[in-house]
Amino acid sequence: MRLVLLGPPGAGKGTQAVELKQALGIPHISTGEMLRAAIAAGTPVGLKAKELVESGRLVPDEMIGEIVEQRLAQTDAAGGFLLDGFPRTVGQAGILDKTLVPLGARLDAVLYMMLDDAAIMERLSGRRTCAACGSPTHVTGARSKKEGTCERCGGRLVQREDDREEVVARRVQVYREQTEPLVEHYRRRGLLREVPAAGSVETVQRRMLAAVQGSGS
Ligand code: AP5
Repeated sequence: MRLVLLGPPGAGKGTQAVELKQALGIPHISTGEMLRAAIAAGTPVGLKAKELVESGRLVPDEMIGEIVEQRLAQTDAAGGFLLDGFPRTVGQAGILDKTLVPLGARLDAVLYMMLDDAAIMERLSGRRTCAACGSPTHVTGARSKKEGTCERCGGRLVQREDDREEVVARRVQVYREQTEPLVEHYRRRGLLREVPAAGSVETVQRRMLAAVQGSGS
């Protein structure tokens, strides 16, 4: 299946992707993770993206479009993919459509994770991310057996630079202005599946799988 995860920062896209990719046997492609890896490695893309990402702004459509195009051309994405964090503007949705044409592919569904602003702030201010594998966790969740380490790989848990309160506020504003128009864009195309993102991780997971199963193919 070819799926897009759409939703505000902190809706739980990365959390749900971990289970969904296993259940569906498709790669999880997170543009945020790719950019953070490029920043950490100091690549030319990382150097250009660093200031924008860490201050909560979007990197230019052309830059992210090129990265996604290269990633979707890899063999593991031939049978399907779970895109997380892309597209994020109407322009990027056009880039995705153009990228899929030569691959003879089309989107099956856009899973729209809906969450209110208070819950977004609560989730992001308490988020800790594994410096090694990128898995998100939350300070209130007793999910790590050893405090400060990732339950999946034992890596060190850190706070993302863009999870500082003032940056989160900007990310939410950027989401409302530049990304939310995609909701109507994909609704008009009949691809949108609305998934309430409040509730436990397991509850949301069941809703996500039900939404995917209702999407055919
Ligand atoms: P990106 O990494 O994509 O950030 P985001 O979209 O803001 O999403 P997040 O990773 O913050 O949240 P999430 O929805 O994955 O939530 P999570 O599962 O972690 O992008 C970062 C930056 O890169 C952007 O700001 C931009 O600068 C740049 N960028 C990326 N893509 C781009 C693009 N296409 N174009 C231009 N620029 C781009 O969960 C959050 C917290 O909640 C965690 O602590 C988790 O444990 C907890 N949680 C999750 N689910 C639940 C639940 N059900 N109940 C309780 N707690 C929960």
